[in-house]
Amino acid sequence: MQNGSSSRTVGIDAIAVHVPRLYLDLRDEWARVRAPELGEASVEQLVGKVTKGVGVTEMAVPDAHEDSATLAAMAAVKAITHAGIDPRDVGTIAVGTETTVDQSKSIGAYVLGMIEEHFGVELRRVGAPQFQFACIGATYALESAVNAFRAGEATKPYSLVIATDVSKYPLKSAGEYTQGAGAVAMLVSESPRLLALDARVAGTITRDERDFFRPNGLSTAVVDGKYSIDVYLGAIAEATEMYLERARAELGRPGARIDELADHLLFHVPFPRMSEYAALRVLGEAWRADGSLRAALAAAAPQLLSPELERDPAVRKEAEKALAKSVIFRECYERRIEPSLALSRRIGNIYSGSMYLALASLLETAADRAALAGSRAAFFSYGSGASARVFSGVFVDPQRAYVPHVTQALDGARVPLDVATYERLHAGPSSDGPPSLAQPGKSVLPPAGEFALARIGTDQGPARTDLGYRYYEWVAS
Ligand code: HMG
Repeated sequence: MQNGSSSRTVGIDAIAVHVPRLYLDLRDEWARVRAPELGEASVEQLVGKVTKGVGVTEMAVPDAHEDSATLAAMAAVKAITHAGIDPRDVGTIAVGTETTVDQSKSIGAYVLGMIEEHFGVELRRVGAPQFQFACIGATYALESAVNAFRAGEATKPYSLVIATDVSKYPLKSAGEYTQGAGAVAMLVSESPRLLALDARVAGTITRDERDFFRPNGLSTAVVDGKYSIDVYLGAIAEATEMYLERARAELGRPGARIDELADHLLFHVPFPRMSEYAALRVLGEAWRADGSLRAALAAAAPQLLSPELERDPAVRKEAEKALAKSVIFRECYERRIEPSLALSRRIGNIYSGSMYLALASLLETAADRAALAGSRAAFFSYGSGASARVFSGVFVDPQRAYVPHVTQALDGARVPLDVATYERLHAGPSSDGPPSLAQPGKSVLPPAGEFALARIGTDQGPARTDLGYRYYEWVAS
């Protein structure tokens, strides 16, 4: 039964993205240096694998003065500015991140300080929690913000939900070309102008897994690459099943397939090919359960109809490989998934923000953004370790609610890195002390028109203690 509060329309009012200006092109010097180091047969082979097999061409790399807090604050300022709202109307700043800058303090508090400085406002009566669960942290932050509005507990018209991360794997590993950095900020509100989230439909699952993690003290992730793909696919399939059970009932569409309920399928994108693997799993499951598609599937991917599929991963792999080549899948993929991948191909994995970057990509690249109004997007959020949450929403007025800005930033002001400079930034600042207490290293591009990590505190005495505290400042252009 619905009560007054749960019938409120709540969702995303505005969304904005911020990525570092520095990037690494994976098609030239890096590929020439790495091909022999990675044991690849040729430079062309590595470039083919990275650009076609994995799906990335460029990766955003943070400069020495950038970190998850500055990226988050930059995205937040853009969201507030694009939406044209008063920052004092924000009641919560909830940050999802797995690359925090402090073991105790919430990045939300640092972001709050930067927003206060930038807009010249005081934001004291604001909550600023941090949510951590690998790449799904921001989705849990979004859920919490949305629920506060649905319950009538929000004290101000908007909540800021920010996904921010710097994705780092060891150099010369298979994870290296799936790094990236960036933040996505979303304003959540009642009667949202961008996307109204469907209520009571989400499917959430969690399993205790070892697919990917980052033990205390390590700056790079530990990952079992191929296994991480299997865990992702299994978790997404399970959460989709739960979403479908709830969505069919709530949306009054008994028996509807996922591609009948949703016009756009937005997946967590650690690398663009992963969205294709996920689409094959989700659509393959949907289509093989639909008797009316039997003849089409028997022609396109007969293995998909095999009773062995559930028991034998090799049969499933073959079935999905065949489906990947079929017209029925390609047509669906090009229309419903590909538009969400343009930005990640040039930015890489931004961990907690990557599914929201897919949403921005759909909005950014749409030939007719106004025509998205009324269409439904299904979101497939995933975080290693492992949890998946599938939910959905309907676009309201995307033409007016979204201000295109990401492609322009990528085309305009980005600066490519040579491998030596990229490796220096990857190593982080040198220091005799613990890594978290190191001073910021030398920036490649001096900060301009952005928040910057200015210094890290060194005092430890009776009068004042700030050892390890991070000082951020706005640097004008
Ligand atoms: P790899 O060993 O570099 O690649 O690992 P591969 O050898 O498996 O090849 C990948 C694809 O490229 C294959 O395609 C090859 O055939 C193809 P498929 O057979 O699957 O269709 N290929 C080529 N295609 C065209 N031209 C060529 C060519 N050569 C090969 N010349 C892997 C890839 C993703 C495993 C690795 O990069 C990795 O470990 N990445 C990090 C882990 C990761 O991203 N996992 C994803 C799932 S877990 C997740 O999403 C959570 C995460 O975001 C973290 C969080 O939640 O916080 C990571």
